[in-house]
Amino acid sequence: MLNEKVASLLNTQINKELYSAYLYLEFANHFAEAGLNGFSNWYTIQAQEERDHAMLFLKYLQNNDGKVTLGAIDAPVTDAASHMDILKAGLKHEEYVTSLINAIYAAAHDVRDYRTMQFLDWFVKEQGEEEMNASDLIKKMELFGGDPKGLYMLNQELAARVYSAPSLVLD
Ligand code: FEO
Repeated sequence: MLNEKVASLLNTQINKELYSAYLYLEFANHFAEAGLNGFSNWYTIQAQEERDHAMLFLKYLQNNDGKVTLGAIDAPVTDAASHMDILKAGLKHEEYVTSLINAIYAAAHDVRDYRTMQFLDWFVKEQGEEEMNASDLIKKMELFGGDPKGLYMLNQELAARVYSAPSLVLD
């Protein structure tokens, strides 16, 4: 039986991950409108990954007799104006998600819920990768984005990103 607080945080995380997907679709739209389809592709795939994360939290709750309550997903909020603002908003968002995962981990740790901690281990690692990817994107944009040829090449690179299903699978 899951602890009430842990179950509630896990349930909230479904919504947070779906919101993340929504936010990245917004970013993808920004770049599609700007004609940067590689960047748009990168964020569209990011949105797919976020949906996968939501499904993992949902499945974990289902598998552990946790109550799933689906709430409304907020409209994505971003005051980002430039391409760089978007990339920076992406990193800031991932840092926020990391703090959420850490808070669930801490709650699970408090009640010695080792099963949930083990489940969350995958997300702890994933968040490290997500922050690194977002940060790398900012660095590349700083280095090459100011020059049209550089931006074109970077866009080509990001167009090559392909979706792959998460390595964590819950039966
Ligand atoms: Fe599901 Fe990008 O964190």
